[in-house]
Amino acid sequence: MKLTLKIWRQKNAQDKGGIVDYPIDGIEPDMSFLEMLDVLNEQLINKGEEPVAFDHDCREGICGMCSLFINGEAHGPDRGVTTCQLHMRMFKDGDTIFIEPFRAKAFPVIKDLVVDRSSFDRIQHAGGFISVNTSGNTIDANTIPINKHDADKSFDAAACIGCGACVATCKNSSAMLFVAAKVSQYALLPQGKIEAVDRVLNMVHQMDHEGFGNCTNTGACEVECPKGISLENIARMNREYLSASLQG
Ligand code: SF4
Ligand code: FES
Repeated sequence: MKLTLKIWRQKNAQDKGGIVDYPIDGIEPDMSFLEMLDVLNEQLINKGEEPVAFDHDCREGICGMCSLFINGEAHGPDRGVTTCQLHMRMFKDGDTIFIEPFRAKAFPVIKDLVVDRSSFDRIQHAGGFISVNTSGNTIDANTIPINKHDADKSFDAAACIGCGACVATCKNSSAMLFVAAKVSQYALLPQGKIEAVDRVLNMVHQMDHEGFGNCTNTGACEVECPKGISLENIARMNREYLSASLQG
């Protein structure tokens, strides 16, 4: 396949940045999107040029690092996949592909396509944990009965990989789907009840503090989420927040 790549290049956080054109040839349809970028970078290095910086780690849809906005969509045109799971067969020979970083005030660009998503880490630190007895008398989690419906819903919420596609997609740069997944994961389990009030209040407070926008129920986040995190988690988080506020 022969393609024209239009890639956002930005030297550092202070640089204004801009789109640069890169014609590329010899791309196989079965290559992943990141493998295609590897080919481009090899060519740039061989020419003595600066390779394109982009984030990645697992390359199998687990770590949530590969945050690319491709032709105006977070993780590109396929559904239910991360950028590393996107294949070049989703594009046609001769296509022009725009590749940009995830854009949000709370995700500042570090270089080229790499953004700083440590705001998500700080939200997690604010409440995304449970207390367990580590004295040597730890109770095996499987000894606590949990009804299947709640266990399944909690597991679905726990599938969030913290990629940030929901934020990049949202016109308000809202992180509600991410935070709601993290709150729901624990709210549905008995182990999560101990810190439930503090968790939702602290995580929502940190989300606002980081500069994420509010939710206006557009639903674009759910469409672009590679892990199918449901909007029902946002409704659950709002209920948890109201209840915690009344108790607080
Ligand atoms: S909710 Fe979905 S889109 Fe948002 S961070 Fe989690 S996995 Fe990514
Ligand atoms: S590189 Fe880990 S999810 Fe894509």
